[in-house]
Amino acid sequence: EPVVAVVVAAGSGSRLGAALPKALVELEGVALIRRSVEALREAGVADIVVTIPVGFLPLFEAALQGLSVTFVPGGATRQDSVRAGLAALTAPDDAVVLVHDAARALVPAAVVRAVADAVLAGADAVIPVVPVIDSIRRVEGEDSHIVDRSPLRAVQTPQGARLATLRTAHDRIAEEGVQVTDDAAVCEHLGMHVVLVNGHRDSLKITEPVDLILASALLRERTP
Ligand code: C5P
Repeated sequence: EPVVAVVVAAGSGSRLGAALPKALVELEGVALIRRSVEALREAGVADIVVTIPVGFLPLFEAALQGLSVTFVPGGATRQDSVRAGLAALTAPDDAVVLVHDAARALVPAAVVRAVADAVLAGADAVIPVVPVIDSIRRVEGEDSHIVDRSPLRAVQTPQGARLATLRTAHDRIAEEGVQVTDDAAVCEHLGMHVVLVNGHRDSLKITEPVDLILASALLRERTP
């Protein structure tokens, strides 16, 4: 059964302090988008659609030279971009689709395969998660309260489902005008059960300048 993917890369680089879209920012000389696409390929993903910001096609083509992907203009929100990406996939309805943030450029192949395998094993929607390491407080007006972090998990990507399922879920949520932050929440909104698999520390979402420093260090540790 084919495994295909949408890589969302249409965000700006504003929080990274970059003039370029974040996905084009280089980590140790290689653009984040290229590292993300290569990680998915290494895990055996066949077709890949990349959603990109308007006006940047030549730069994305250059960054992904030699890798065969389909480019699609992104939307105003991540959700819109995912929807556009799903529409561009030509795989069969029952193909496994993974939605991945370009910013999680160091996702290990083992995490990608764990997500795909859980969908193949019958799960409706699958997400990789990691424990929360910070102490967490909930702020309510003037008051704040400690939250027990032991049952909490931070959500990563890629998130997996069957292609037809995820398309339907995204269409429904767009019709209803509901905004959610990830694809599992889209499925959950339709009453589907979300299955969790282990994510990985290396799969951090590179968002702020300090994340690039951390990712560089992780990368150097990886390649001796
Ligand atoms: O902004 P944030 O880091 O949460 O975005 C998550 C991912 O969604 C990023 O990889 C970004 O490129 C992508 N995105 C998108 N289209 C948007 C906004 C974000 O593809 N309109």
